[in-house]
Amino acid sequence: MEEFKFWCVFIFVIYTINLGVMCKGEDENGVASMKRTEQEALYSAIQGFVGKWWNGSDLYPDPCGWTPIQGVGCDLFDGFWYVTDLSIGPVHDNSLSCAQNVEFRPQLFELRHLKSLSFFNCFVSPHHYPVAIPTENWQGFAGSLESLEFRSNPCLIGQIPYTFGYLRNLRSLVLVENGLTGELPAFFGNLINLRRLNLAGNSFSGSLPDNFGELNQLLILDMSRNLFSGLLPSTFGGLTSLLKLDLSNNQLEGKIPQEIGKLKNLTLLDLSNNKFSGGLTTLFQEMSSLEQLVLSNNPTGGNLTNLAWHNLICLTVLDLSNTSLTGGIPDSISKLKRLRFLGLNDNMLTGKISTKIETLPNISAMHIYGNNLTGELKFSEGFYGKLGRRFGAWDNPNLCYPSGLISRINVPFGVKKCQQEVTRETGLDTSSRLNNNRIWNPESNPTVSLGFSIFRIDRFRYIFVFIVFFGHLLFDIGFA
Ligand SMILES: *[C@@H]1O[C@H](CO)[C@@H](O)[C@H](O)[C@H]1NC(C)=O
Ligand SMILES: *[C@@H]1O[C@H](CO)[C@@H](O)[C@H](O)[C@H]1NC(C)=O
Ligand SMILES: *[C@@H]1O[C@H](CO)[C@@H](O)[C@H](O)[C@H]1NC(C)=O
Ligand SMILES: *[C@@H]1O[C@H](CO)[C@@H](O)[C@H](O)[C@H]1NC(C)=O
Ligand SMILES: *[C@@H]1O[C@H](CO)[C@@H](O)[C@H](O)[C@H]1NC(C)=O
Ligand SMILES: *[C@@H]1O[C@H](CO)[C@@H](O)[C@H](O)[C@H]1NC(C)=O
Repeated sequence: MEEFKFWCVFIFVIYTINLGVMCKGEDENGVASMKRTEQEALYSAIQGFVGKWWNGSDLYPDPCGWTPIQGVGCDLFDGFWYVTDLSIGPVHDNSLSCAQNVEFRPQLFELRHLKSLSFFNCFVSPHHYPVAIPTENWQGFAGSLESLEFRSNPCLIGQIPYTFGYLRNLRSLVLVENGLTGELPAFFGNLINLRRLNLAGNSFSGSLPDNFGELNQLLILDMSRNLFSGLLPSTFGGLTSLLKLDLSNNQLEGKIPQEIGKLKNLTLLDLSNNKFSGGLTTLFQEMSSLEQLVLSNNPTGGNLTNLAWHNLICLTVLDLSNTSLTGGIPDSISKLKRLRFLGLNDNMLTGKISTKIETLPNISAMHIYGNNLTGELKFSEGFYGKLGRRFGAWDNPNLCYPSGLISRINVPFGVKKCQQEVTRETGLDTSSRLNNNRIWNPESNPTVSLGFSIFRIDRFRYIFVFIVFFGHLLFDIGFA
């Protein structure tokens, strides 16, 4: 027993001495420690963002070691810790949150090993003058920075500094939902390592740079929700790796250049809410990877019958609403077997609609309202039942559904019964005229249930017949 105790104490003592020696050694030899300059630069840079109250050396004496700071990442280079990631803003509960008077201190740019720098919800204070991104010093990050992100900073204003052009190692530049303005600097064409460029939700203006074509590693390009105007440069066809291209909600105009058809790997193309014209070109049919094609709210014009739809077998979303389309809806649309959403509303489409669309296994919304489609809607009752109000065919004055075939609950919303049926049933066409002139606006009247609105119209018709009938009767009696 005594022996056992002895060995326990002995092992414990040896262990403790060892631990002490190891720790001391690390410090003294400079193994896995942080250079004072790096540490001071980190404290000062953070203090500039979070406020003077924040005393880093007090709170986090060993920021890359046993007192880590939320949002700060480190890595070893030649036996020393350096800061590689800095993320400011309320991402987690204990994240570094910004002060009201945020400032970029020059010490930030002394963190020469920084690979990733991000600011989320940081420049938001209405009590302080808005802040611009500093122009100086970014070249200090030229060799290291791979990801730069400013997201949701409404009080971050001014232009993109030309010095971002030094950041040749950037793979991701995200400037989303800030107050940035001005034209895009020409240097973007030189940032050839970019994989992601997201400039959405600012007030950038001017034309799209025509030297983007060099960015052939770019996978995601989002410039939506800005004030870009002018033409879509044909050089965008050089972005051959692109998976997602979103230029929606700008003021772009003109024809969509044929070169866009070279983007063979594109899965999303969103050009909605612009002023593109020049017709629905056949270039789309070359983009066989497309899953989402959204062109809504453009004066595009053109004709659905021209495209070889069977080439676009990956399409799940096809939104061509309000694009001034003319002509009919071709049968070939029903070759898009993966389609979930079909938006053809608010165009000038004419002719009959094929029921083949019903065979699409995953279709869950079909908008054909606001056109001039004609004839009988011959979809099965199950189809109307499955889609409910997501089948929108109202505002087609010459479209009707065959009555008698459908139970009232599944009647397509806002579509009248076919006239022949109506005439045969009652001998009066009053009710169908009534339906004809009705302005259907489901958005402003969402509580009207399908069955009820139709029921009311039916009841109205019977009351009408009743009044006419008894009117005659009373009239006859009165004068007899
Ligand atoms: C932080 O605290 C230490 C000791 O508590 C003090 O010596 C130092 O001056 C403080 N630094 C700042 C920037 O307030
Ligand atoms: C397109 O995608 C395929 C398959 O993912 C890939 O092999 C090819 O390199 C890509 N093309 C370009 C130009 O990136
Ligand atoms: C249809 O698109 C035009 C632009 O082409 C736009 O001005 C108009 O507001 C859009 N209409 C609807 C109903 O969205
Ligand atoms: C649609 O395009 C086809 C083929 O180019 C053409 O024959 C047809 O007349 C066009 N229809 C309309 C309404 O423009
Ligand atoms: C329909 O959707 C299901 C579930 O998301 C999916 O597994 C299936 O592949 C889809 N069918 C087609 C033809 O896209
Ligand atoms: C709709 O088409 C019919 C013929 O089918 C035509 O008489 C009518 O003028 C068209 N209405 C509009 C608004 O184009």
